[in-house]
Amino acid sequence: MKPTIFLTATASILSAMALSMGCASVSHEVNVDTDLEYCNTQIMRTLSSLRTDSGTIDYSMIPRNIADSASTWECRNVCPEEWCDGFWPGVLWYNYENTGDTLLRREALRFTESLKSIVYSPVYDHDLGFLIFCSYGNAYRLTADKACKQVILDAADSLATLYNPRVGTLLSWPRNVGMFGGHNTIMDNMINLEMLFWASKNGGRKELYDIAFKHAETTMNNHFRPDGSCYHVAVYDPESGEFIRGCNHQGYDDDSMWARGQAWAIYGYTMVYRETRDPRFLAFAQKVTDVYLSSLPADGIPYWDFRDPGIPEVPRDASAACVVASALIELSDYVDASTSRRYLDASKKMLATLASEHYRCGDAKPAFLSHSVGNMPANSEIDASIIYADYYYIEALTRLRNHQA
Ligand code: GLY
Repeated sequence: MKPTIFLTATASILSAMALSMGCASVSHEVNVDTDLEYCNTQIMRTLSSLRTDSGTIDYSMIPRNIADSASTWECRNVCPEEWCDGFWPGVLWYNYENTGDTLLRREALRFTESLKSIVYSPVYDHDLGFLIFCSYGNAYRLTADKACKQVILDAADSLATLYNPRVGTLLSWPRNVGMFGGHNTIMDNMINLEMLFWASKNGGRKELYDIAFKHAETTMNNHFRPDGSCYHVAVYDPESGEFIRGCNHQGYDDDSMWARGQAWAIYGYTMVYRETRDPRFLAFAQKVTDVYLSSLPADGIPYWDFRDPGIPEVPRDASAACVVASALIELSDYVDASTSRRYLDASKKMLATLASEHYRCGDAKPAFLSHSVGNMPANSEIDASIIYADYYYIEALTRLRNHQA
């Protein structure tokens, strides 16, 4: 073995150990201001690409992805079936928060308001939370606009109609009951509990809190293997409420650890602890985090599924890294000092890698990041730029900036 290769391999192994063990020697150069300036540049490029020759924007067409082979955003129309339509308005809100630019505020509000009709259509699935809390939730957080608040309260009531009290969770995909053979709950659904908690504390029904709490508890009891890794889907008998099985949908197989699914678990239980202060949820957030961190490659960016036998010749998923980087900044505030340092170091390491030339789109495309995977089994959005990666990336940078202030 040549010494240089040995040194590289050794550095990589040490770096991986340091990442999982939280050694202070990890180098993680994140320059939050520079990275946020980069985000602002890409957002301005996207906005100008959405303008027609007469300078107008169709606010009902929302950036969704840029394929590996493409250089412009594919936009999707606003409708309940398009689960990602809240992320682009959310990106604009975070950028407004960071820059104070009133042009951004105006455009963020216009894109946000284009989603309103979804709330007053029959609820399609659990993604109503992603759609409305990333858009209207951030709008209300930054503007205190009462009209925005009412839309979120109405959305929370609509989302709660998916709750089955016999099971103790929301039905994530009503359209897939036949396919899975029962009431299905997916790990992604954890994120959408935030809107229910928020509504219950901001003028909505107290019952929304109880629903979100019970969903988190039922999911904690059924949706995970003993090592803390999660199934994508949990199937329940809708009448007896009995747990039938855990299975896969967007990951490699029923026994694998789909990277973004685990990322939703990390983010979800961190948020549930914030909202409930129940120590069981904090311990669980740490458990689901630790199995993820201890399985990561040295640079902190997961393969799309940790148990794909094709590793290392399979795509990474930057979107999962963004979700986790953001969650860890929050989780680091709830744990003891050495664990806090370990989580913060891990987050910074991820953000440093994401700021590298390999992950940044740079001049080639107006998104922030490349190399995310949407749905591998469906052969959809493989190694692409995807809007939710950008959303959680700018959220993570904003959280880190606030953390360091
Ligand atoms: N359904 C959300 C996701 O693909 O992560």
